[in-house]
Amino acid sequence: MHPYTRIYMSIEKEIKRRRTFGVIAHPDAGKTTLTEKLLLFGGAIQEAGAVKNNKVKKGATSDFMEIERQRGISVATSVLAFEYHGTKINILDTPGHKDFAEDTFRTLTAVDSVIVVIDVAKGVEEQTEKLVEVCRMRNIPIIVFINKLDREGRDAFDLLDEIESKLQLRVTPLSFPIGMGYDFKGIYNEWEKNVNLFSGDNRKNIEETIEIEDLESKELDNLVGEKAANTLREELELVREVYPDFNQQEYLDGELQPVFFGSALNNFGVRELLDCFVEIAPTPRPKESDTRLVHPEEKDFSGFVFKIHANMDPKHRDRLAFVKIVSGTFERNSPYLHVRNGKKVKFSSPNAFFAEKKQIVDVSYPGDIVGLHDTGNFKIGDTLTQGEKMQYKGIPSFSPEHFKYVNNADPMKSKQLEKGLDQLMDEGVAQLFTLELNGRKVIGTVGALQFEVIQYRLEHEYGAKCSYENLNVHKACWVEAKDPKSEEFADFKRVKAKFLAKDKRDQLVFFADSAFTLQMTQSKYPNVKLHFVSEFESSNSKKKK
Ligand code: G4P
Repeated sequence: MHPYTRIYMSIEKEIKRRRTFGVIAHPDAGKTTLTEKLLLFGGAIQEAGAVKNNKVKKGATSDFMEIERQRGISVATSVLAFEYHGTKINILDTPGHKDFAEDTFRTLTAVDSVIVVIDVAKGVEEQTEKLVEVCRMRNIPIIVFINKLDREGRDAFDLLDEIESKLQLRVTPLSFPIGMGYDFKGIYNEWEKNVNLFSGDNRKNIEETIEIEDLESKELDNLVGEKAANTLREELELVREVYPDFNQQEYLDGELQPVFFGSALNNFGVRELLDCFVEIAPTPRPKESDTRLVHPEEKDFSGFVFKIHANMDPKHRDRLAFVKIVSGTFERNSPYLHVRNGKKVKFSSPNAFFAEKKQIVDVSYPGDIVGLHDTGNFKIGDTLTQGEKMQYKGIPSFSPEHFKYVNNADPMKSKQLEKGLDQLMDEGVAQLFTLELNGRKVIGTVGALQFEVIQYRLEHEYGAKCSYENLNVHKACWVEAKDPKSEEFADFKRVKAKFLAKDKRDQLVFFADSAFTLQMTQSKYPNVKLHFVSEFESSNSKKKK
């Protein structure tokens, strides 16, 4: 056998056993609790409470100190990997707080599927809608987990209706609750055809499951009582009438979303979710680059940076760049091409993640995440390959929501300020724009909290001081001229000169001060397209390189 054939066979095996996904939820729905229970099942942690909650807590500490605390934790929880029945599972952490939405969106470019957690009492919430919309746009396979069934909540059919209408999903319940809250008796598992009885004892690790061959049998009445058994029979009949049958291909294509019910806190319904997940969830998926579709089974390594984490210790300016491996194997000390700057780089201590620990690895496979130490060469969206000149697509930059002028508050430290801003922007903390007219710098962020973070980190990590000045911008739009030489575009640039800026990639951006201005501008200049999202590798940025 040719040596490569043997390696290839093992790569294929490794790819097949990998599942890389993210848990998304509106804050407080139970993302951290569910993640923790999944890790418990994988034996990756021994006790509940081991996974730190990295949400921004409201309370005594000031917001940015809280963010710093959270930033420390989020290095540990960025990637949580564990083995379950021979499957290697990588969970990518996604902050639920809306001020970090952009972080979450970027992480979603690196997952192959997601589990959406919904609170049974609250139903579909604001962040759930936004995050699911991104997944839907990218056809990411979605499983829904309705959590907190131990509490009084909404009627299951109501919730399923809401998920269909608000999230525009096509659902099929694979489990169904028997009662709820005070009357919660357990769950009927359609996928495994068994009943799982709820004891309400959250110290119990795995609940007993009872096989039910025939729903009509008296056994069900004996288990949950005649009334509950009859209600369940009626409800399941309705489920079968109303919802489509589960079809794995439709799920993988993002056209059908299975739903599970449970209580993460009580470890209830979690094993069922995990067992179904490892069976149906996608293995690492192919990814589109600017030149072609790249398949995980390809021999040559390729991957992209979706997250950069700066060192918490200001004395060491190194950062950890998180790379998702798309194809081939990533090997320690092998030279790889950093496509954007055209240089070959070797990594002597790539980190792999296991539960909350990092360790140096020699080989990683598609679907895995490696953490690479970086002294400032990486930007989010960068591609690494074995030599091929291609750039992965699909890491968007969204129009920020908040804008402020940034001024240098210490003239002796202008170099430090520039470097600090530069690196923080590479990390994706915020976006920096330079006004065309006067060269003034504007910072745009998704959340208001980031301004404090930037000020604090500039001072503590770069020794620079900045101050802010308010600026009234409603949206920043990336400008695309159908014909850059046209009269219309020249007129647009002349009339709107005060509101034009360049982003860090030298793309032209228009600051609209209100929704009305935006509408007027669009109708006056129909051949100047205004985009709310900038793909890093749009045709504009390629030309500029
Ligand atoms: P998040 O990461 O999505 O923000 O949610 P997290 O897991 O932190 O859960 C939010 C709150 O909901 C926590 O309570 C958690 O204990 C609770 N919770 C999670 N799953 C369930 C469940 O199945 N049933 C019930 N009844 N509660 C659940 P907390 O009081 O805010 O925090 P903590 O002090 O318990 O950590």
